[in-house]
Amino acid sequence: MNAPLITIENLKKRFDIRMGAFGEKAASVHALDDFTADIIEGETFSLVGESGCGKSTTGFCILNLQRPSGGRVIYKGTDLATLDEDGMRPFRRDLQIVFQDPYSTLNPRMTIGEALSEPILFHGLATKAELPARLTRLLADVGLSQRFASRYPHELSGGQRQRVAIARALACEPRFIVCDEAISALDVSVQAQILNLLLDLQEKYKLTYLFIAHDLAVVRHISDRVGVMYLGRLAELAPAQALFATPLHPYTRALLSAVPEANPHAAQTRQRLQGEVPSPLNPPSGCRFHTRCPLARDTCRATVPPLREVAPGHRVACHAVTSATTTNWEPVSA
Ligand SMILES: Nc1ncnc2c1ncn2[C@@H]1O[C@H](COP(=O)(O)OP(=O)(O)OP(=O)(O)O)[C@@H](O)[C@H]1O
Ligand code: SF4
Ligand SMILES: [Mg+2]
Repeated sequence: MNAPLITIENLKKRFDIRMGAFGEKAASVHALDDFTADIIEGETFSLVGESGCGKSTTGFCILNLQRPSGGRVIYKGTDLATLDEDGMRPFRRDLQIVFQDPYSTLNPRMTIGEALSEPILFHGLATKAELPARLTRLLADVGLSQRFASRYPHELSGGQRQRVAIARALACEPRFIVCDEAISALDVSVQAQILNLLLDLQEKYKLTYLFIAHDLAVVRHISDRVGVMYLGRLAELAPAQALFATPLHPYTRALLSAVPEANPHAAQTRQRLQGEVPSPLNPPSGCRFHTRCPLARDTCRATVPPLREVAPGHRVACHAVTSATTTNWEPVSA
């Protein structure tokens, strides 16, 4: 196994909600709590979970695009969480992000060539004379011909625009890319093409990905490891193969049971998710999943379950799970 590229310790993010004439703090959104994990060089580390569970916040806080409220993000021996924008400058090139909507990163008035030249020149990665050859290579890397350099974003299909967004991240010669729902808005056939492209680029340029997605079936095929998040916390973290073969957290089991082909075992023991996700303004005490968990009991309501390693690399935050093969508790009838 390679060494960690990024070490994340107890990462936390609160969004303060301010109201009133003087902007007093009225409440806090608990968007991310105690996120601890290494991201290993060259791996695809995926994050899954329902909408609002803190996946994007995790990505933004790692890149310090949103300032964490606590915790550390160690990259090249430096805690990124302590840096302001000036301090981040030497690291920005290495750490890139691709969003779901490429329109948000592409200026509609710039040609694709101009959009791709900008980061190359900004980071001094080519001279003006070298630029045309660099652009041609970059477009070829994402499967686009040189003709695309003179086109505008609105002239491209969704898949082509996402290729350009990937090229723009790649232009910086990064080491780490957060792919935040980067394929979610695309047609299924195009999704597969962009996924394959990401995998090819990963191999060619030794990239490390944090891949954020709703679609568990997609994650299964491309991930080395998968983190399942619930209401701002990691519920389970495991090698992809182990997570799909032996999901241990009741939340992971419920998520997988909604994708029967993803896990025949979970399909047999169907545990449909009950109710709605509680508000992150006032998350449940103890285990945040207790309001929806069929196994919940008093301990769960009182104490936060630690993320414990129950098999090599397989960590679970559940009081009921003490080994990699068993969930000790029976469902509690209402
Ligand atoms: N700028 C903000 N101000 C206040 N609350 C925010 C802000 N950004 C995110 N949140 C809240 O933080 C929580 C986590 O949001 P986040 O966007 O990280 O979730 P997500 O898992 O990426 O969801 P999705 O799958 O919908 O993209 C949510 O409750 C969200 O409403
Ligand atoms: S700690 Fe309790 S409530 Fe939380 S997932 Fe485990 S059994 Fe369910
Ligand atoms: Mg998101």
